Amino acid sequence: ARAQDKTPLALAFEAIRGSHTDAVVVPEGYRAQVLIPWGTPLNARASAWQNNLAMTPEQQANSVGMHHDGMHAFPLDADSGSRRFLLALNNEYIDQDALWAPQGGPTQPDGVRPADEVRTEINAHGVTIVEIQRQDDGGWAHVVDSPYNRRITTATPVLLSGPVAGSDYVKTRYSSDGTRTRGTNNNCANGYTPWGTYLTCEENWPEVFVNTGERFSDDARLGLPTDRGRYGWETAAGDDEHDDEFARFDVTPGQGEASEDYRNEARTFGYVVEIDPYSQAVAMKRTALGRFRHEGCWPGPVRAGEPLTFYTGHDSRNEYIYKFVSAARWDPADAPEPGNEADRLAIGSKYLDEGTLYAARFDEEGRGEWLALTPDARTPSGQTLAAALGLEAGDAAGIIIHTCDAADLMGATPMDRPEWSSVDPVSGEVYFTLTNNSKRTEDGTEATFTNGGVAVDAAGVGFATAPTNAANPRANNENGHIIRWREENDNRFSWEIFVFGSDVDAADNRSGLTRDNQFASPDGLWYDDRGDGQGILWFQTDNSDNAVAEYTNDQLLAVVPAALGAGGGSGSVINADNQDQLKRFAVGPNGCEVTGIFATPDRTALFINIQHPGNWPADGDALSQDATQAASGKVRPRAATVAIWKADGGQVGL
Ligand code: FEO
Ligand code: CA
Ligand code: CA
Ligand code: CA
Repeated sequence: ARAQDKTPLALAFEAIRGSHTDAVVVPEGYRAQVLIPWGTPLNARASAWQNNLAMTPEQQANSVGMHHDGMHAFPLDADSGSRRFLLALNNEYIDQDALWAPQGGPTQPDGVRPADEVRTEINAHGVTIVEIQRQDDGGWAHVVDSPYNRRITTATPVLLSGPVAGSDYVKTRYSSDGTRTRGTNNNCANGYTPWGTYLTCEENWPEVFVNTGERFSDDARLGLPTDRGRYGWETAAGDDEHDDEFARFDVTPGQGEASEDYRNEARTFGYVVEIDPYSQAVAMKRTALGRFRHEGCWPGPVRAGEPLTFYTGHDSRNEYIYKFVSAARWDPADAPEPGNEADRLAIGSKYLDEGTLYAARFDEEGRGEWLALTPDARTPSGQTLAAALGLEAGDAAGIIIHTCDAADLMGATPMDRPEWSSVDPVSGEVYFTLTNNSKRTEDGTEATFTNGGVAVDAAGVGFATAPTNAANPRANNENGHIIRWREENDNRFSWEIFVFGSDVDAADNRSGLTRDNQFASPDGLWYDDRGDGQGILWFQTDNSDNAVAEYTNDQLLAVVPAALGAGGGSGSVINADNQDQLKRFAVGPNGCEVTGIFATPDRTALFINIQHPGNWPADGDALSQDATQAASGKVRPRAATVAIWKADGGQVGL
């Protein structure tokens, strides 16, 4: 239970107004600094950033990737981690205009792509591992040439692990035994494990592939393009040694055996990927956690002798929330000291390769149930799940390959685009952002409205429309909401809506939001657990084209859940009686999304990411600078991490 006898933390900053500037805005008394923007050299093999720098495969492979998203810090000092840590950072996708700005854009963006441009774009995706240190002036800097610095890109060899590994579903010409693939990409949000590894999640990966022939049903469900990949990577010519370097992105089936072509290549994507930030070990795709457009993967409470739990969501309209429960029970001896030589991925195999994947069904009256996606599970019509999917009995790999179909058949609840999650391990409350849904209607009939001009996804694939339900109660939910639940026995849970996004003037402002906290499209989220029932819930937005966007750029908000008291009669925990507890803490620059979040263990510095800014940061030549300074002219935009701290050295937010 929550430590109700304690006085809850009190947010001590003045909520800031919304803004539209080319700067990061923070409350009075705070400093904000740009750290490791895209293209920052990680080692001496990359030359210093310049605004007219021509990016090359080599340069990009040795510098920070593009479009920062989820991230996590791993201490390099068992005592602190508050001064020196490894930052593991997702580089979700690319802005081709910024990447190729000196030459005026990509060469033939719609034709045959030059090989080195494609190699560069591939190297701009994936994950960056970089050592970060606090400076004497309170600011932060990365360590050039740290032995830990490395990149994992869409070209880096990766191992498959768990039920899909070695199955016929993933045999390709590159890996005839179905145990390996190349790369991870469109790494959106993240997670971490109690044994000191990073989890990076493959979200919009279908779009870099193309299939001009007969698609697998899972290709169609996940929106794999049928005419051209997102960047046309498949059109480039590989060299003699690696003739499949780019051809692998065209997964059209050939005439021969599956292991002679790349029809199965896309089935080696769509996973949670585990990386040991402390070593150079080959990353592993943990297939037991399901295959879909994974947003992120967040650990539940960690208790000795109990199974581990990880929550993960499929960010598409009317897709599902999942949880994975490990077969192995947690042994605290499996948490190595930071930075030692332990084989962390072997520990990962113990907990992440065997277990049960569940999909969530949210019922009326705040009730819910986890539905096991196992081959022998019985669907509501009484068939085994394997039989209902047309699979061989016991085909655990097939269930994973068709995770979304399995969840359909078991009766999971279609959600309003599940994004981030975070768990308060003391209260047991699990928070989940549901960003928005333009395909939610009162009765499930085909939507005729557009939301922000987008009625179909980027690949031109329309997602099925679904009717409103108790947990997703708003038709054309353009502002999104945050839901939370508590686990109960027998795979049951109880849930409630935490807050509904809205603009202040909307008739449907169900949580009573004001000018100081109106928001829409919640996405990033982090409960800053302090181990004693105290903590701040931070959340971030990825919004556009609505009344909230007219008021402000994307933002970071904060609330102390323990200070809210019992929910009121408005239908959400935050309501007209306590809405003043939710405060806007930061606003990002024009064009950006605010995403990715953690604080140092001593809470004196908070780190966030600014993704796809339009005209920021102000001084592109500097590695670090004042993020609150706006550009005077047009700059080559660069996603970056921003460090925020209090000028007086106190805890952020308090
Ligand atoms: Fe990459 Fe669902 O955000
Ligand atoms: Ca994004
Ligand atoms: Ca997101
Ligand atoms: Ca989003």
